[in-house]
Amino acid sequence: MRKKIIAGNWKMNKTVSEAQNLADAIKRDLDSEAKVDVVLCPPFTAISAVSQAVSGTQIAVGAQNMHFEASGAYTGEISAEMLREQYCRYVILGHSERRQYFGETDESVNQKTKAALAAGLKPIVCVGETLEEREADKYQDVIRTQINGGLAGLSEADFKNLVVAYEPVWAIGTGKTASPEQAQEVHAFIRSLLVELSSQAIADTVRIQYGGSMKPANAAELLSKPDIDGGLIGGAALDAPSFIGIVKAAIEA
Ligand code: PGA
Repeated sequence: MRKKIIAGNWKMNKTVSEAQNLADAIKRDLDSEAKVDVVLCPPFTAISAVSQAVSGTQIAVGAQNMHFEASGAYTGEISAEMLREQYCRYVILGHSERRQYFGETDESVNQKTKAALAAGLKPIVCVGETLEEREADKYQDVIRTQINGGLAGLSEADFKNLVVAYEPVWAIGTGKTASPEQAQEVHAFIRSLLVELSSQAIADTVRIQYGGSMKPANAAELLSKPDIDGGLIGGAALDAPSFIGIVKAAIEA
């Protein structure tokens, strides 16, 4: 049985004080829940405050990006070690917004994934097709390329610390969710790719999150599918009651 994992991707939202308030509100309701892994991913500037707010609870903190080098002349960048120092345990890598607006490629995702794992962070590696690619029935090819490129050269031990997020680009922030059947089909496909890269036994341990307009009203049905092991939540993670509603759906799934 894979433990479900619900992560909030706050994107470029929340000042430090707003982030603290949101983390406090989530913590109040979820403090002792250990049945599901809960991860909050604020912007870099609020990581330290959110880490402090949730310290001593089961709630973990993650970042939304990092650089693959440990240090050096990379203006504007943040390393895995810097995130670890702020008590980050996870890092989202290869989000479609980073691929679309910031030139992220499967190669850079691969470099970052390896650097994150080497530093003891658990990467949440995002894959997903655009609407055009789905309509042209190319989504399996796209996802195969993203998975094989992003996860090339990982060891068995690495896979055990990996989380994959399937986020169809057409469902992100659009209110359009993949149907539970559509999502399950891709999740099972992703798991078959993980088997090719590792083994059945290892692929069976990797959690695959769904992301794209997940909310309390559709979470239970999505999370009831056999290969949907959690959610990566954008918009609905910015509001404590709706994020908590999704976590509760995962606890009951
Ligand atoms: P959304 O975003 O829940 O707002 O669709 C998900 C994500 O981009 O991680």
